[in-house]
Amino acid sequence: MAWWIMSWGCRQNLPDAQSYAARLYVARCGQCHTAYSPRSLTGAMWEVQVEMMDARMRQAGLPALSEEEKRAILSYLKKNAAR
Ligand code: HEC
Repeated sequence: MAWWIMSWGCRQNLPDAQSYAARLYVARCGQCHTAYSPRSLTGAMWEVQVEMMDARMRQAGLPALSEEEKRAILSYLKKNAAR
């Protein structure tokens, strides 16, 4: 679980940065590039993007997102997405 603990140190200007979902987002989606601002895409675009990135993770040999993680990350992104 080192990836999870270590990413806590990265302070980012994300909405609700201390929330479980925001930390999960940074931990899982900030491994290959910095975690993009939720406001950079609309909710519909995030739905597509998270699926694509899930595939990228599998390709890279990283653990894929569980259903629970995917739901938490997606609801966090959509809540704060561009409108
Ligand atoms: C295994 C490495 C890896 C992980 C983990 C990863 N990404 Fe990416 N991401 C990439 C690469 C590589 C690109 C460049 C575009 C491409 O190849 O699809 C990218 C591009 C993006 C882009 C920009 C797309 C664009 O058109 O500019 C967004 C947004 C994004 N990722 C979101 C996420 C989210 C959300 C997660 C977590 C669910 C995530 N990424 C996790 C590798 C990763």
